Amino acid sequence: MSEQHNIDNVMHEHRRFEPTEGFRQRAHIPSLEAYQSVYRQATEDWEGFWRKQAETELAWMQPFTSVFERDDHGVRWFDGGTTNVSYNCLDAIIAAGQGQRTAIIWEGEPGEIVRLTYNELLQQVCKFANVLRGLGVQPGDVVSIYMPMTPELAIAMLACARIGAVHSVIFAGFSAEAVADRNNDASAKVQLTADGAWRRGKLLPLKQTVDQALAKSSTVQHCVVLRRTGQEVPMTAGRDLWWHDLMSQADDHCPAPALPSEHPLFILYTSGSTGKPKGILHTTAGYNLWAKLTFRWVFDWRPDDIYWCTADCGWVTGHSYIVYGPLSNGATILMYEGAPNHPAEDRIWDIVERHRVTILYTAPTAIRAMISWGDQHVEKHDLSSLRLLGTVGEGINPEAWMWYHTKVGGERCPIVDTWWQTETGGIMLSPLPGAIATKPGSCTMPLPGVVPAIIDEAGEEVTEANQGGRLCIAKPWPGMLRGIWGDPQRHFTQYWEAVPGMYLTGDNARRDEDGYYWIMGRIDDVINVSGHRLSTIEVESALVSHPRVAEAAAVGRPDALKGQAICVFVSVKGGEPDEELRQALKLHVRKEIGALAVPDDIRFTPSLPKTRSGKIMRRLLRDIAEGKKEVKQDTSTLEDMAVLAKLHENDES
Ligand code: PRX
Repeated sequence: MSEQHNIDNVMHEHRRFEPTEGFRQRAHIPSLEAYQSVYRQATEDWEGFWRKQAETELAWMQPFTSVFERDDHGVRWFDGGTTNVSYNCLDAIIAAGQGQRTAIIWEGEPGEIVRLTYNELLQQVCKFANVLRGLGVQPGDVVSIYMPMTPELAIAMLACARIGAVHSVIFAGFSAEAVADRNNDASAKVQLTADGAWRRGKLLPLKQTVDQALAKSSTVQHCVVLRRTGQEVPMTAGRDLWWHDLMSQADDHCPAPALPSEHPLFILYTSGSTGKPKGILHTTAGYNLWAKLTFRWVFDWRPDDIYWCTADCGWVTGHSYIVYGPLSNGATILMYEGAPNHPAEDRIWDIVERHRVTILYTAPTAIRAMISWGDQHVEKHDLSSLRLLGTVGEGINPEAWMWYHTKVGGERCPIVDTWWQTETGGIMLSPLPGAIATKPGSCTMPLPGVVPAIIDEAGEEVTEANQGGRLCIAKPWPGMLRGIWGDPQRHFTQYWEAVPGMYLTGDNARRDEDGYYWIMGRIDDVINVSGHRLSTIEVESALVSHPRVAEAAAVGRPDALKGQAICVFVSVKGGEPDEELRQALKLHVRKEIGALAVPDDIRFTPSLPKTRSGKIMRRLLRDIAEGKKEVKQDTSTLEDMAVLAKLHENDES
């Protein structure tokens, strides 16, 4: 293999953490051998494995007749069968005698707390399902959801699932334009929203945004408005209806209809750190099975856990690991409405302490923010209830991982660094916490049934350890995306054509000598310096390991001599950056990685441009590094336009 085809591994990370004996003893999968045995079963008798899992994990109204079929129209899992996701998440748990168990503990930003048992949640879901039916929603119709993180958001999702309506949840921070685009793309029939939401002590005008969006969403016939903040909002007669009015008249009896395995469950527009948002489609049985199993495997869930995922239901993490995965296991979930730093920077730890949270699942961007806020906020609280920590959404820099491990986990909690995508429906690569030793920065091993392959640019599988290439998945799995809404061709060209027979993830990865996977960032983000292909995360992790660096993003810019030069954007902590720090950072990277990766430009910035789900948007930084003055790219997913303006300003000064 020529050098050009590979991505150089320049990261030297040798720390390794075994699961503690105490954790192992209670774990569902308690050893590496146990993991390897399940993994082998899943690959050696692939069909048999999935048949058995589907038969035992889901309630079937009609049993399926085949496990997997593929033809020109796509794939079909568990064909011939009928089930209902809402039934699996509610009725099945109640039928197992767990109706009195708390399903949701909700905390609003101002501090109110609501608890719902599985019985109560089912009652609410049935009522709202009847409300939707009353508004003319039929199976297959799209319901657009633009709501704050309240129990009603989960209720709305489950109510759609119950009657076979397809939900499209749009994160309630998106602009009116973004909501209208998504509504039009999906031909949404009904809009759900709230008068407003609380964020950092302020009211967000959700209804106002929706009114602007609906002026451009011609397919939407009704808008149901939850009263959350009590602020005055205009209601359009004939179109807008209050949630509480409709619920007060709704019947709480709504048996779950039998839906075919491939009935569409939801569309979710991807956060789009690399381009125009697209509506990823997931369907009923396969998705439900994948969310349920992966939740239990990865979080090693047990009934007495208080599980908190800090994501918003507007992202796939919220779909799979707040709603569908946990609830179909009968878990108790914590949902929090607001900002992590309101009223103070210790809100997360305060919630963990008060609710005795045992499992915490969050994103590297949140961890980096907490590090920069200072250890005193963590140290103030008793976090002894925690037994497992997780991360998702981006690679975690090893130093941030170590902070999470020591400061939050008290060195006793395993960390599951979970790699997956909106498209994969659920976690694909992750430590199983009782079985697989962790290494900071590695998502470790594939889950049972997941067969990863690293493919070089010639289309050959990379077998040598530590050689980076394109991460592909060589076998279908039940949670796989079924298509892009309204654009079946794009689905094939984007994901299945580049490497025949395999799913192309769009990320690069390497596998080390122990078989551990290390995600190296998006394919488009690779920096090519003098024939060496460097991954962004490795340069960034070297920078983040310097005590003055809070966050870093590395991109390539054209360079006549080297092909590309490395340009890094760095935000610092502990005072204003100066030339001395710039030189110190260059030396630091040289020491950590080597001369090859020393940045040509270091640009200091107060913050980095991120998607609304917290991912660094490197494609925008590439333009700035190249000196492009105009933003021609799609910026609808950018969280804060001001950050971009500031970067352009810095560029000019
Ligand atoms: O690049 C990978 C990164 O996030 C992408 C998927 O983003 P999205 O569809 O928004 O889903 C986010 C929640 C699953 C991936 O292609 N990514 C996600 N998790 C990790 C990660 N990169 C490195 N390590 C991870 N654990």
